[in-house]
Amino acid sequence: MTAPQENASVANAPQAVSERDRVIVFDTTMRDGEQSPGASMSLEEKLELSKILEDMGVDVIEAGFPIASNGDFEAVRRVAEIVSESTVCGLARAGIGDIDRCAEAIRPARRGRIHTFLSTSPQHRDHILRMSQEDVLNAITGSVGHARNLCGDVEWSAQDATRTERDFLRRCVEAAIKAGAGTINIPDTVGYTYPSEYGEIFRDLIENVPGADTVIFSTHCHNDLGLAVANSLSGVQSGARQVEVAINGIGERAGNAALEEVVMALRVRQDRLPFPTRIRTEHITRASRYVSAITGFPVQFNKAIVGKNAFAHESGIHQDGMLKNASTYEIMRPEDVGQGASNLVMGKHSGRHAFREKLKALGYDLGQNALNEAFGRFKDLADKKKHVFDDDIVALVDDALARGADRIQVKTLRVIAGTEGPQEAHLTVTVDGVEKSATATGDGPVDAVFNAIHQVAPHAATLRLFQVHAVTEGTDAQAQVSVRLEEDGRIATGQAADTDTLTASAMAYVNALNNLSARKEKSAPAPMTASGF
Ligand code: KIV
Ligand code: ZN
Repeated sequence: MTAPQENASVANAPQAVSERDRVIVFDTTMRDGEQSPGASMSLEEKLELSKILEDMGVDVIEAGFPIASNGDFEAVRRVAEIVSESTVCGLARAGIGDIDRCAEAIRPARRGRIHTFLSTSPQHRDHILRMSQEDVLNAITGSVGHARNLCGDVEWSAQDATRTERDFLRRCVEAAIKAGAGTINIPDTVGYTYPSEYGEIFRDLIENVPGADTVIFSTHCHNDLGLAVANSLSGVQSGARQVEVAINGIGERAGNAALEEVVMALRVRQDRLPFPTRIRTEHITRASRYVSAITGFPVQFNKAIVGKNAFAHESGIHQDGMLKNASTYEIMRPEDVGQGASNLVMGKHSGRHAFREKLKALGYDLGQNALNEAFGRFKDLADKKKHVFDDDIVALVDDALARGADRIQVKTLRVIAGTEGPQEAHLTVTVDGVEKSATATGDGPVDAVFNAIHQVAPHAATLRLFQVHAVTEGTDAQAQVSVRLEEDGRIATGQAADTDTLTASAMAYVNALNNLSARKEKSAPAPMTASGF
């Protein structure tokens, strides 16, 4: 419920700020974000996500860690091929092999960046690297210099910077600047720092390191103490002009600073934080939903900016205030972040043209084949479901994008369920176009469905997550199902949406199996220890 009056965010209209104060948004959803256990993304998903990020106005997209696997290399290379507005970045340790592989992966990019890092803290020097301070300084000079010979845009990160001796951190940053780094990242790798301390580190480096005025300083904050966003903002207030963030705050352990929270804090509080970004904030909700769908990580209802309840007003006092003037309880409008009310859109008589316009409004730009496929599915849905909402269309299109190239496809499913067991599933799928059928019983209908899938597509994967969400309200709502499977330490997630929960479950399980077999085709990660310098 939003009254038409202007709210605080609108009142604080952007003021003229110099280009020096603009904050570069560096998205690491596909690299640090993908390091969250279970958050692996397929190549197709990464390509789609990179288009979403580019449309949203992200300045730098960190697409992966090319040396880690052939799959990561391929993802960075393909993202570099299709993205033209954003800089495409790959991560590399301080070794020749890593840096060369990274340079090769980003070569197709219109704007490419090598992001190389080395640990600087005593904990990492002594226990991981077994390197002295002098060894670390030499490795920084060698690695950054080598990267600069291959690429004009080099970022250097001091891993575990916030636990590094200040005088040594200054020397490391000086070495990286001298060797040619254009961006210096100061990661709070273990989520240990707090806002005033993190700000102090940036002020110290900017004031005291020779050449600091020639580079951009960057934040990279992990959320172990729940301070990642606050720390990032403090870094910006103290002179950082790049923030490394991830959609929905995903990332190692407790995650990274959430892109949507940092960006909206800078937008809403531009009176005190006059550091604009180029993000088209109306795209935020779409990006959040897509990342949640492909990773199977739900967005908590009360999550800032993108949670289902972020703009819901429940108490009578709040509702009364909102009706009088939206600024009473809202510091930004839902539409500022692309959270429109879930509108009733169309029914079964709606035409292709209206459907295409609706997709455009929701942030999709589909090719003709994908549009035809999505329109067909929309018609099927409109036949089954009385009211089709925006959220239904988003689920339907994301679902089709996720399953486009699957080798195994569900054709038909019939399930016998109820109080009298055993429950039974009759399933037909195609595997590389060849039809296969099975009948199986199980401990409940979902178990019966999954057993039938096992018969038509034998595998050794273990089910790690089975999750069902209603896309909208009502008993005819679509069920959005996420399934996570694990085999030999490889994890893959699948998702699907349908008005029939069991059909959605079957399709999500099969999608996870397809993603798992795609992951198996990628080679094992390279060992992640020594530095080559
Ligand atoms: O958290 C960290 O230190 C990192 C670096 C590799 C930048 O992710
Ligand atoms: Zn990190």
